[in-house]
Amino acid sequence: DKDVLLQNISSSEYFPITYKELEQEAKQTMSVGGFGYVRSGAGNEETLRKNEESFSKLSFLPRFLRDVSELDTSVQLFGRTYPYPIFLAPVGMQKLAHKEGEIASAKAAATHRVPFVLSTVSSYSIEDVANATGDSPKWFQLYWSNNEEISFNMVKRAEEAGFEAIVLTIDTPMLGWRVEDIRNRFSPLKLGLGKANYEADPVFLRSLENQDAESIIHGILNNINHPTLNWKHVAALKERTSLPILLKGILHPEDARLAVENGIDGIIVSNHGGRQLDGVISAIDALPLIVEEVKGAVPVLFDSGIRRGTDVVKALALGADAVFIGRPFIYGLAVDGQNGVEKVLANFIEETKISISLAGISSVKDLPALKIVTS
Ligand code: FNR
Repeated sequence: DKDVLLQNISSSEYFPITYKELEQEAKQTMSVGGFGYVRSGAGNEETLRKNEESFSKLSFLPRFLRDVSELDTSVQLFGRTYPYPIFLAPVGMQKLAHKEGEIASAKAAATHRVPFVLSTVSSYSIEDVANATGDSPKWFQLYWSNNEEISFNMVKRAEEAGFEAIVLTIDTPMLGWRVEDIRNRFSPLKLGLGKANYEADPVFLRSLENQDAESIIHGILNNINHPTLNWKHVAALKERTSLPILLKGILHPEDARLAVENGIDGIIVSNHGGRQLDGVISAIDALPLIVEEVKGAVPVLFDSGIRRGTDVVKALALGADAVFIGRPFIYGLAVDGQNGVEKVLANFIEETKISISLAGISSVKDLPALKIVTS
């Protein structure tokens, strides 16, 4: 991948390089409702904006004269080594962006050997994605169902299909107030886009009285809200799987402490890309508070607002073990399917590598030593 820069320069084909250009190109290929669903945040989009603004308020204090000719970008997590600290976030209903949806993005992740996290509300099932990608690293994101036997069965299916971790999303006991979707009268679930894992689930199908398309969608809508979700469910999940469990959406240090106390294997600091409670702290401002509380007891991962390689470096310097990107790869998927996601990832990886070296660091593991100030 040393050639990424050269490829970018010599390619006669235009491929958007900045986030802004990616977003503009993706908009051309998507429906108004579909694009609005991906781009927007909840409420007044305060948190969506803050996620990006907070990154630009952070500045590096780089070191020089340190021989940065070699760089180790690998990360160890849950007994595995990954080549880069950049993973793909769970994003539902990827057929909105491209007809090959999660199959295309999971294959792109596989070419870089970075973990792909499949959403509960995906447009291709656990089994479809496993069959298309062989032994590449995959994790499963769980939205807790109001019928917990359905959740347990999905986790079992993920385990059997070779997925290596469970990401329980905790910031979505119900969907946020999504103004853009209300304006566009847009509901991807009602369009039948996020049903693949449900349609393939015998426990879910048995729970329905009638298995026609409309009843399935109605059943999913009924299932997806889980406002009762609490720490007892986390304990119950732990009983049912031997896979590492990560909690996604932690912002308060006290919840991070409880996660560790409850035997959770990893934390993902995230505000769901500004799509849940509007007005919450930017994820990057929450990160140091969580890192300080957890003190290395479990890995701390991060997402929300990462738009370029320097953002990756900032999150790692503030103590994240790895980061996820969300919207940037979905836009790559919309622009050019698997190839688009591969290009977005390659550019992220390359800019991250260059930036770490320019900051005077030779290993991702040493990034917490990179000084960052707010200015
Ligand atoms: C998401 N996200 C998400 N998270 C999750 O746990 N399950 C899901 O099904 C989805 N679906 C989803 C759809 C779309 C269109 C977006 C944009 C996001 C949240 C996602 O995992 C991640 O937290 C954010 O996308 C990170 O923020 P950025 O990188 O998009 O700013």
